[in-house]
Amino acid sequence: MVETSALALDTYAVGARSEIDAALLRWTEFDADCPPRLREAIRHSLLAPGKRLRPMLVLMSAEACGCHRVEALPAACAVEMIHTYSLIHDDLPAMDDDDLRRGQPTCHAKFDEATAILAGDALLTRAFEVLAMEISPPSVAARCCAELASAAGASGMVAGQVDDLAAEAGCGGIPELEAIHRRKTGAMFRVSLRLGALVAQATPEQLGHLDAYGQKLGLAFQIIDDLLDVHGSETTMGKRTGKDSDRGKLTFPRLLGLEASQSRARQLIDEACAELGEFGSRATHLESLARYVVERNH
Ligand code: IPE
Ligand code: IPE
Ligand code: MG
Ligand code: MG
Ligand code: MG
Repeated sequence: MVETSALALDTYAVGARSEIDAALLRWTEFDADCPPRLREAIRHSLLAPGKRLRPMLVLMSAEACGCHRVEALPAACAVEMIHTYSLIHDDLPAMDDDDLRRGQPTCHAKFDEATAILAGDALLTRAFEVLAMEISPPSVAARCCAELASAAGASGMVAGQVDDLAAEAGCGGIPELEAIHRRKTGAMFRVSLRLGALVAQATPEQLGHLDAYGQKLGLAFQIIDDLLDVHGSETTMGKRTGKDSDRGKLTFPRLLGLEASQSRARQLIDEACAELGEFGSRATHLESLARYVVERNH
Protein backbone atom coordinates (compact mmCIF):
# COMPACT_ATOMS: atom_id res chain seq x y z
CA MET A 1 0.00 0.00 0.00
CA VAL A 2 2.78 2.42 0.97
CA GLU A 3 4.70 1.48 -2.18
CA THR A 4 1.62 1.92 -4.34
CA SER A 5 1.04 5.44 -3.08
CA ALA A 6 4.75 6.30 -3.43
CA LEU A 7 4.52 5.17 -7.07
CA ALA A 8 1.34 7.20 -7.58
CA LEU A 9 3.12 10.25 -6.13
CA ASP A 10 6.05 9.74 -8.52
CA THR A 11 3.73 9.60 -11.51
CA TYR A 12 1.84 12.66 -10.29
CA ALA A 13 5.07 14.56 -9.65
CA VAL A 14 6.42 13.95 -13.16
CA GLY A 15 3.26 15.39 -14.75
CA ALA A 16 2.86 18.28 -12.32
CA ARG A 17 6.51 19.17 -12.53
CA SER A 18 6.51 19.47 -16.30
CA GLU A 19 3.43 21.74 -16.14
CA ILE A 20 5.05 23.89 -13.42
CA ASP A 21 8.38 24.14 -15.28
CA ALA A 22 6.69 25.05 -18.60
CA ALA A 23 4.69 27.79 -16.84
CA LEU A 24 7.80 29.11 -15.03
CA LEU A 25 9.60 29.32 -18.36
CA ARG A 26 6.68 31.17 -19.95
CA TRP A 27 6.37 33.63 -17.06
CA THR A 28 10.06 34.50 -17.11
CA GLU A 29 10.23 35.50 -20.74
CA PHE A 30 9.87 39.22 -19.83
CA ASP A 31 9.79 41.96 -22.45
CA ALA A 32 12.62 43.61 -24.38
CA ASP A 33 13.41 45.96 -21.48
CA CYS A 34 14.63 43.08 -19.31
CA PRO A 35 18.46 42.88 -19.51
CA PRO A 36 19.41 39.47 -20.97
CA ARG A 37 21.92 38.79 -18.18
CA LEU A 38 19.24 39.40 -15.54
CA ARG A 39 16.85 37.00 -17.32
CA GLU A 40 19.64 34.44 -17.51
CA ALA A 41 20.37 34.75 -13.77
CA ILE A 42 16.67 34.45 -12.89
CA ARG A 43 16.26 31.34 -15.03
CA HIS A 44 19.55 29.82 -13.83
CA SER A 45 18.13 29.64 -10.31
CA LEU A 46 14.43 29.21 -11.01
CA LEU A 47 14.62 26.47 -13.63
CA ALA A 48 17.35 24.48 -11.86
CA PRO A 49 16.19 21.09 -10.59
CA GLY A 50 14.52 21.96 -7.28
CA LYS A 51 12.01 19.54 -5.81
CA ARG A 52 9.04 21.87 -6.54
CA LEU A 53 7.40 20.81 -3.27
CA ARG A 54 5.64 24.10 -2.58
CA PRO A 55 4.08 24.53 -6.04
CA MET A 56 2.99 20.88 -5.93
CA LEU A 57 1.32 21.54 -2.59
CA VAL A 58 -0.60 24.45 -4.17
CA LEU A 59 -1.85 22.16 -6.93
CA MET A 60 -2.68 19.28 -4.57
CA SER A 61 -4.54 21.57 -2.20
CA ALA A 62 -6.69 22.94 -5.03
CA GLU A 63 -7.41 19.39 -6.19
CA ALA A 64 -8.31 18.25 -2.67
CA CYS A 65 -10.97 20.99 -2.73
CA GLY A 66 -12.35 19.77 -6.06
CA CYS A 67 -10.70 22.23 -8.47
CA HIS A 68 -8.71 21.35 -11.62
CA ARG A 69 -5.01 21.90 -10.97
CA VAL A 70 -4.52 24.08 -14.06
CA GLU A 71 -6.48 26.83 -12.31
CA ALA A 72 -3.97 26.86 -9.47
CA LEU A 73 -0.89 26.90 -11.74
CA PRO A 74 -0.31 30.71 -11.51
CA ALA A 75 -0.43 30.51 -7.69
CA ALA A 76 1.91 27.51 -7.74
CA CYS A 77 4.42 29.42 -9.88
CA ALA A 78 4.15 32.55 -7.75
CA VAL A 79 5.07 30.52 -4.66
CA GLU A 80 8.03 28.89 -6.43
CA MET A 81 9.27 32.31 -7.58
CA ILE A 82 9.24 33.63 -4.01
CA HIS A 83 10.86 30.44 -2.72
CA THR A 84 13.64 30.70 -5.34
CA TYR A 85 14.25 34.37 -4.54
CA SER A 86 14.56 33.39 -0.86
CA LEU A 87 17.14 30.74 -1.76
CA ILE A 88 19.18 33.15 -3.91
CA HIS A 89 19.33 35.63 -1.04
CA ASP A 90 19.84 32.88 1.61
CA ASP A 91 22.98 31.79 -0.27
CA LEU A 92 24.55 35.27 -0.46
CA PRO A 93 27.84 35.92 1.39
CA ALA A 94 26.00 38.21 3.82
CA MET A 95 23.69 35.33 4.75
CA ASP A 96 24.67 31.64 4.57
CA ASP A 97 27.48 32.17 2.05
CA ASP A 98 26.93 29.04 -0.03
CA ASP A 99 28.35 28.23 -3.45
CA LEU A 100 26.18 25.24 -4.43
CA ARG A 101 22.41 25.10 -4.87
CA ARG A 102 20.21 22.64 -6.75
CA GLY A 103 23.38 20.95 -7.99
CA GLN A 104 24.67 24.12 -9.63
CA PRO A 105 26.72 27.17 -8.65
CA THR A 106 24.61 29.59 -6.59
CA CYS A 107 23.36 32.68 -8.42
CA HIS A 108 26.03 35.02 -7.00
CA ALA A 109 28.79 32.45 -7.68
CA LYS A 110 27.75 32.02 -11.33
CA PHE A 111 26.97 35.71 -11.98
CA ASP A 112 27.87 38.26 -9.29
CA GLU A 113 26.41 39.46 -6.01
CA ALA A 114 24.60 42.49 -7.40
CA THR A 115 23.01 40.41 -10.16
CA ALA A 116 21.93 37.77 -7.63
CA ILE A 117 20.30 40.38 -5.37
CA LEU A 118 18.51 41.90 -8.37
CA ALA A 119 17.42 38.49 -9.74
CA GLY A 120 15.84 37.86 -6.31
CA ASP A 121 14.13 41.26 -6.41
CA ALA A 122 12.75 40.54 -9.88
CA LEU A 123 11.41 37.11 -8.87
CA LEU A 124 9.72 38.58 -5.81
CA THR A 125 7.91 41.20 -7.85
CA ARG A 126 7.09 38.87 -10.76
CA ALA A 127 5.33 36.52 -8.36
CA PHE A 128 2.74 39.17 -7.49
CA GLU A 129 2.35 40.21 -11.13
CA VAL A 130 1.53 36.61 -12.07
CA LEU A 131 -1.00 36.28 -9.25
CA ALA A 132 -2.67 39.61 -10.02
CA MET A 133 -2.87 38.98 -13.77
CA GLU A 134 -3.64 35.27 -13.96
CA ILE A 135 -5.92 34.40 -11.03
CA SER A 136 -9.63 35.01 -11.31
CA PRO A 137 -11.96 36.33 -10.06
CA PRO A 138 -10.07 39.51 -9.06
CA SER A 139 -11.27 39.21 -5.44
CA VAL A 140 -9.51 35.83 -5.15
CA ALA A 141 -6.39 37.25 -6.84
CA ALA A 142 -6.32 40.11 -4.32
CA ARG A 143 -6.66 37.74 -1.36
CA CYS A 144 -3.91 35.49 -2.75
CA CYS A 145 -1.60 38.52 -3.14
CA ALA A 146 -2.30 39.65 0.43
CA GLU A 147 -1.78 36.20 1.95
CA LEU A 148 1.41 35.51 0.01
CA ALA A 149 2.83 38.94 0.89
CA SER A 150 2.12 38.37 4.55
CA ALA A 151 3.61 34.84 4.60
CA ALA A 152 6.76 35.92 2.77
CA GLY A 153 7.21 39.28 4.46
CA ALA A 154 8.45 41.02 7.59
CA SER A 155 6.41 38.88 10.00
CA GLY A 156 6.77 35.68 7.97
CA MET A 157 9.64 34.16 6.01
CA VAL A 158 11.83 37.28 6.19
CA ALA A 159 11.31 37.45 9.96
CA GLY A 160 12.36 33.82 10.27
CA GLN A 161 15.51 34.51 8.23
CA VAL A 162 16.40 37.48 10.46
CA ASP A 163 16.05 35.37 13.62
CA ASP A 164 17.83 32.39 12.04
CA LEU A 165 20.87 34.61 11.41
CA ALA A 166 20.71 36.16 14.88
CA ALA A 167 20.46 32.71 16.49
CA GLU A 168 23.87 31.75 15.08
CA ALA A 169 25.67 33.72 17.75
CA GLY A 170 23.30 33.18 20.64
CA CYS A 171 21.43 30.25 22.01
CA GLY A 172 17.84 29.25 22.63
CA GLY A 173 15.63 26.26 23.24
CA ILE A 174 12.95 24.37 21.34
CA PRO A 175 10.28 27.12 21.63
CA GLU A 176 12.67 29.71 20.12
CA LEU A 177 13.73 27.30 17.38
CA GLU A 178 10.14 26.36 16.53
CA ALA A 179 9.32 30.06 16.30
CA ILE A 180 12.15 30.50 13.77
CA HIS A 181 11.15 27.45 11.69
CA ARG A 182 7.46 28.38 11.78
CA ARG A 183 8.25 31.65 10.01
CA LYS A 184 11.37 30.89 7.94
CA THR A 185 9.98 27.69 6.38
CA GLY A 186 6.52 26.96 7.78
CA ALA A 187 4.91 30.17 6.55
CA MET A 188 5.65 29.36 2.88
CA PHE A 189 4.38 25.78 3.22
CA ARG A 190 1.25 26.97 4.95
CA VAL A 191 0.51 29.66 2.37
CA SER A 192 1.02 27.13 -0.43
CA LEU A 193 -1.86 25.10 0.95
CA ARG A 194 -3.95 28.20 1.56
CA LEU A 195 -3.51 29.57 -1.97
CA GLY A 196 -4.59 26.26 -3.53
CA ALA A 197 -7.68 26.25 -1.30
CA LEU A 198 -8.46 29.92 -2.02
CA VAL A 199 -8.26 29.38 -5.79
CA ALA A 200 -10.63 26.42 -5.36
CA GLN A 201 -13.00 28.61 -3.30
CA ALA A 202 -12.78 26.11 -0.43
CA THR A 203 -15.04 26.22 2.61
CA PRO A 204 -13.59 27.75 5.81
CA GLU A 205 -13.42 24.22 7.31
CA GLN A 206 -11.40 22.89 4.36
CA LEU A 207 -9.11 25.92 4.53
CA GLY A 208 -8.60 25.33 8.26
CA HIS A 209 -7.62 21.68 7.81
CA LEU A 210 -5.24 22.42 4.94
CA ASP A 211 -3.70 25.28 6.89
CA ALA A 212 -3.06 23.00 9.89
CA TYR A 213 -1.61 20.29 7.60
CA GLY A 214 0.70 22.94 6.06
CA GLN A 215 1.93 24.21 9.41
CA LYS A 216 2.87 20.76 10.65
CA LEU A 217 4.37 19.68 7.35
CA GLY A 218 6.46 22.87 7.19
CA LEU A 219 7.97 22.30 10.61
CA ALA A 220 8.65 18.62 9.87
CA PHE A 221 10.26 19.63 6.57
CA GLN A 222 12.70 22.02 8.26
CA ILE A 223 13.58 19.45 10.96
CA ILE A 224 14.52 17.03 8.16
CA ASP A 225 16.45 19.78 6.36
CA ASP A 226 18.45 20.30 9.57
CA LEU A 227 19.02 16.52 9.86
CA LEU A 228 20.13 16.22 6.25
CA ASP A 229 22.66 18.98 6.88
CA VAL A 230 24.22 16.58 9.41
CA HIS A 231 24.12 13.27 7.55
CA GLY A 232 22.95 13.98 3.98
CA SER A 233 25.10 13.63 0.89
CA GLU A 234 26.13 16.79 -0.96
CA THR A 235 25.81 15.03 -4.32
CA THR A 236 22.27 13.84 -3.68
CA MET A 237 21.17 17.11 -2.11
CA GLY A 238 22.86 19.42 -4.60
CA LYS A 239 23.90 21.76 -1.77
CA ARG A 240 26.65 21.88 0.83
CA THR A 241 26.19 19.95 4.07
CA GLY A 242 27.70 20.26 7.53
CA LYS A 243 27.40 24.03 7.39
CA ASP A 244 24.85 24.52 10.16
CA SER A 245 27.18 23.16 12.83
CA ASP A 246 30.16 25.05 11.34
CA ARG A 247 28.14 28.22 11.82
CA GLY A 248 26.83 27.21 15.24
CA LYS A 249 23.21 27.40 14.00
CA LEU A 250 20.33 26.63 16.27
CA THR A 251 18.90 23.40 14.82
CA PHE A 252 16.79 20.44 15.93
CA PRO A 253 19.65 17.92 15.84
CA ARG A 254 21.76 20.26 17.95
CA LEU A 255 19.05 20.60 20.60
CA LEU A 256 17.42 17.16 20.51
CA GLY A 257 19.91 14.83 18.81
CA LEU A 258 19.34 12.86 15.60
CA GLU A 259 16.86 10.22 16.75
CA ALA A 260 14.58 12.47 18.76
CA SER A 261 14.53 14.97 15.88
CA GLN A 262 13.53 12.23 13.43
CA SER A 263 10.72 11.04 15.75
CA ARG A 264 9.47 14.59 16.23
CA ALA A 265 9.29 14.97 12.45
CA ARG A 266 7.42 11.64 12.11
CA GLN A 267 4.98 12.64 14.82
CA LEU A 268 4.29 15.96 13.07
CA ILE A 269 3.65 14.12 9.79
CA ASP A 270 1.13 11.83 11.49
CA GLU A 271 -0.60 14.89 12.91
CA ALA A 272 -0.53 16.60 9.50
CA CYS A 273 -2.10 13.57 7.81
CA ALA A 274 -4.81 13.41 10.49
CA GLU A 275 -6.05 16.77 9.14
CA LEU A 276 -6.83 15.24 5.76
CA GLY A 277 -9.67 12.92 6.78
CA GLU A 278 -12.52 14.97 5.38
CA PHE A 279 -11.00 15.12 1.89
CA GLY A 280 -11.11 11.34 1.40
CA SER A 281 -9.34 10.00 -1.69
CA ARG A 282 -8.83 13.53 -3.05
CA ALA A 283 -6.06 13.99 -0.46
CA THR A 284 -4.08 10.84 -1.32
CA HIS A 285 -1.24 12.82 -2.92
CA LEU A 286 -1.05 15.22 0.03
CA GLU A 287 -0.67 12.25 2.34
CA SER A 288 2.01 10.61 0.17
CA LEU A 289 3.91 13.86 -0.12
CA ALA A 290 3.92 14.28 3.66
CA ARG A 291 5.30 10.75 4.09
CA TYR A 292 7.95 11.46 1.44
CA VAL A 293 9.08 14.61 3.28
CA VAL A 294 10.25 12.63 6.31
CA GLU A 295 11.74 9.73 4.35
CA ARG A 296 13.57 11.86 1.76
CA ASN A 297 17.32 11.93 1.29
CA HIS A 298 17.46 15.28 -0.53
C1 IPE B 1 15.35 24.55 0.83
O1 IPE B 1 14.08 24.15 0.40
C2 IPE B 1 15.22 25.70 1.77
C3 IPE B 1 14.57 25.35 3.04
C4 IPE B 1 13.48 25.94 3.44
C5 IPE B 1 15.18 24.38 3.90
P1 IPE B 1 13.93 22.90 -0.57
O2 IPE B 1 14.68 21.73 -0.01
O3 IPE B 1 12.48 22.69 -0.85
O4 IPE B 1 14.69 23.40 -1.87
P2 IPE B 1 14.46 23.03 -3.42
O5 IPE B 1 13.32 23.90 -3.87
O6 IPE B 1 14.16 21.57 -3.54
O7 IPE B 1 15.76 23.41 -4.07
C1 IPE C 1 16.51 28.61 4.21
O1 IPE C 1 16.85 27.78 5.27
C2 IPE C 1 15.13 29.10 4.38
C3 IPE C 1 14.79 30.07 3.33
C4 IPE C 1 15.41 30.22 2.21
C5 IPE C 1 13.66 30.93 3.58
P1 IPE C 1 18.30 27.08 5.20
O2 IPE C 1 19.38 28.09 5.16
O3 IPE C 1 18.36 26.00 6.22
O4 IPE C 1 18.18 26.40 3.75
P2 IPE C 1 19.36 25.63 3.03
O5 IPE C 1 19.78 24.53 3.96
O6 IPE C 1 20.42 26.64 2.73
O7 IPE C 1 18.68 25.09 1.79
MG1 MG D 1 19.64 30.02 5.91
MG1 MG E 1 21.00 28.23 3.77
MG1 MG F 1 19.30 24.10 5.87
